[in-house]
Amino acid sequence: MVVRREETRTMVDRYRGATRLNHWVTAIALILLTLSGMALFHPALFFMSGLFGGGSMTRMLHPWIGVVLLASFAVLFIQMVRHNFWNRSDTVWVRHIGDVMAGNEEKMPEAGKYNGAQKLIFWGMTLLILVLFGSGLVIWYEYFGSTFTIEQQRIGHIVHALMAIAMLLIVIAHIYAAFYIRGSINAMTEGKVTGGWAFRHHRGWLREEAREGVVDERQQPQRSMRPAE
Ligand code: HEM
Ligand code: HEM
Repeated sequence: MVVRREETRTMVDRYRGATRLNHWVTAIALILLTLSGMALFHPALFFMSGLFGGGSMTRMLHPWIGVVLLASFAVLFIQMVRHNFWNRSDTVWVRHIGDVMAGNEEKMPEAGKYNGAQKLIFWGMTLLILVLFGSGLVIWYEYFGSTFTIEQQRIGHIVHALMAIAMLLIVIAHIYAAFYIRGSINAMTEGKVTGGWAFRHHRGWLREEAREGVVDERQQPQRSMRPAE
């Protein structure tokens, strides 16, 4: 990852193409799981199974999309886990989250690549995906119908539905933060953020990146090679 001084601004690389692609596969899988899960959850929502080609198709597809979610999130986990270990300044950051909401971020301790709230979301997503997958297997009748007792399957349904709600709440908080903090979306669409964004929200990370080196693209020779107008 690199800090680049461009003609009029400084940009910092935040995600490689492979990480962004994997993130969006995870996001799409979760959206499809939510829609198909809702269709299976209550008769009033059954009409949503039309999106997946009817009731049987929804029932067949939902767990397989769950397998895609588990696989893509596992890769995301490997790509991101080293930046998500908890440290003491994260505790202080989370205690003062009100200052972020009030726009007084200068009072907060410097955040690394991820702040305390993002780390909590990361570990929350990790735990919930594991529980959703585990409980999903218990109620996957097509393959595991005879592996678990009726009692276990009943508990599996309750755990799965409750954890699905918890997962949705976490993802809604994540999406809200992605739009609330202006400039964050660029990190996941273009892979880079402005120096100002990095300085304001993740100063510790910006320092680390800058220590690795700054590429001055203003000195590229192409500028003088432009044809005369
Ligand atoms: C449409 C839905 C989504 C949007 C708009 C979105 C947006 C974003 C953005 C902008 C970032 C970069 C934040 C940064 O670098 O500071 C990000 C990071 C991330 N996203 Fe998403 N995301 C979505 C869905 C999901 C889902 C469903 C998951 C997992 C199940 C997920 C997992 C993550 C993780 C682990 C990170 C890195 C840590 C973090 O920023 O919390 N995202 N997302
Ligand atoms: C992670 C992998 C997942 C697997 C393997 C999985 C598997 C399953 C299975 C087998 C069923 C039962 C379908 C039937 O009645 O035949 C089910 C139901 C359901 N799933 Fe998932 N699922 C997963 C993730 C998710 C996620 C992420 C959500 C939503 C955020 C979700 C929401 C639901 C809901 C609401 C139901 C209906 C609840 C019920 O019948 O008790 N699932 N899932």
